Amino acid sequence: MLKTVAKSFVVALSVVFASVVWAEEIVIKFSHVVAENTPKGQGAELFKKLVDERLAGKVKVEVFPNAQLFGDKDELLALLKNDVQLIAPALSKFEKYTKVLQIYDLPFLFDNMAAVDCFQQTPEGQAMLKSMESKGILGLAYWHNDMKQLSGPKPLKTPADAAGLKFRIMSSDVLQSQFEAVKANPQKLAFSEVYMALQTGTVDGQENSWSNIFSQKFYEVQPYIMESNHGLLDYMVVTNAKFWNGLPPDIRDELQKAMAEATAEANKIAAEKSAHDKQAIIDSGKTQVLELTPEEKAAWREVMKPVWDKFSGEIGADNIAAAAACNKS
Ligand code: SIN
Repeated sequence: MLKTVAKSFVVALSVVFASVVWAEEIVIKFSHVVAENTPKGQGAELFKKLVDERLAGKVKVEVFPNAQLFGDKDELLALLKNDVQLIAPALSKFEKYTKVLQIYDLPFLFDNMAAVDCFQQTPEGQAMLKSMESKGILGLAYWHNDMKQLSGPKPLKTPADAAGLKFRIMSSDVLQSQFEAVKANPQKLAFSEVYMALQTGTVDGQENSWSNIFSQKFYEVQPYIMESNHGLLDYMVVTNAKFWNGLPPDIRDELQKAMAEATAEANKIAAEKSAHDKQAIIDSGKTQVLELTPEEKAAWREVMKPVWDKFSGEIGADNIAAAAACNKS
């Protein structure tokens, strides 16, 4: 009898012990839609490495690249359901949850990545990280890719060259207006569908960063790429606010530090990768990379500028002014 009681006690203890151990290991699933050898892919791996080193046994980060787990269409909903704890969508993909981030899609708003960095450090840029908190989405960091380049089936030197062509865009009304301003036909498509759409002619052209054009092999099915730098591809690393705020404070602090370090490093990598991937595209000989003259660029800027006015009410004129001021710093 005594033996049976002792045995049950040991069994009960091991169940309690196992559940305590299980409860202590926090699993963070980090899902994204790009390849591992991209700025975002590298950033995610870097964050995982830092967490593995510093929080071994307490937190485990699992990274799922290439839309393996969730794609453009479902990653934000998955985050809200806590099926995934970290994602880093392009800033163009948050429109359903906040309008202020539309600022990052305004054509020709930022002259370069230094201006983007500057704006993101302003109170206006920092406040945007919290712009979706009431909806359950919390921004932890901005991660860079680079400026976007325009590609198509023919040289697109002037806005008139784009008229009538179908361009793939991310799910953003600002980007839709940007292409409508040059009388082109924008089509919202998930990232994972772009290569096929370009290859089969469902769309004629697209806009993206050098690293995405390279890693997704868009350059193999796009005869011309204009070095237009007309817009920005940047990301916000976001988490489920309830999950994040419910973490033990010491763990959250460590994760925050790891995120800050991964961000600084990932943003350095982004600049290097962009330069490397641009050169690799040129060296491939599979497409022609064309520069725009200052006059040609001014013509694109001019025809797209009304898009700013159309969205400034939702974005906030103060926010736009703060961003524009960063071009001068
Ligand atoms: C990404 O870089 O996350 C994808 C961007 C896109 O949809 O074009």
